[in-house]
Amino acid sequence: MATKILMVCLGNICRSPLAEGILQSKLPKDKFIVDSAGTGDWHVGHQPDKRSVAVAKKNGLDIANQKARQFTASDFEMFDYIYVMDKSNYDNVVKLAPNPEAKAKVQLMLDGLTTVKGMEVPDPYFGGNEGFDTVYAMLDEACTVVANKLLNK
Ligand code: 4NP
Repeated sequence: MATKILMVCLGNICRSPLAEGILQSKLPKDKFIVDSAGTGDWHVGHQPDKRSVAVAKKNGLDIANQKARQFTASDFEMFDYIYVMDKSNYDNVVKLAPNPEAKAKVQLMLDGLTTVKGMEVPDPYFGGNEGFDTVYAMLDEACTVVANKLLNK
């Protein structure tokens, strides 16, 4: 059975769509399913933010066909690993965890990168384009670490 990974941010239009596209590009499609969701519902059904679509395109990835959806407790049954972008995403996701096993699936996206725990992927929504380049670089590095870990399991 395929291993299933879910990327989570607040709106599911800026950070987690990028994380979904980037991780997907680093894993074989027949063995891994990567999806994303937001803890909020404001953007449900929307395409990713055009600045995320643009930075992905600049790096050779097409994420324009993704559609935002809201994280729900049933995602704990569906997914093996849940990566959240920041601490408020973490709090909002674990609040819905039905048991300790479900809670243990949730990790901060950047925690695999360094020994410093608790680092966050900053929300680029209210900033300029350069914030999206920074977020892309962080996610690319973090997804390489995650992909290597999953491929070596
Ligand atoms: P995301 O960014 O969580 O990376 O998708 C945001 C998108 C929209 C909003 C906040 C963050 N918003 O407030 O609408």
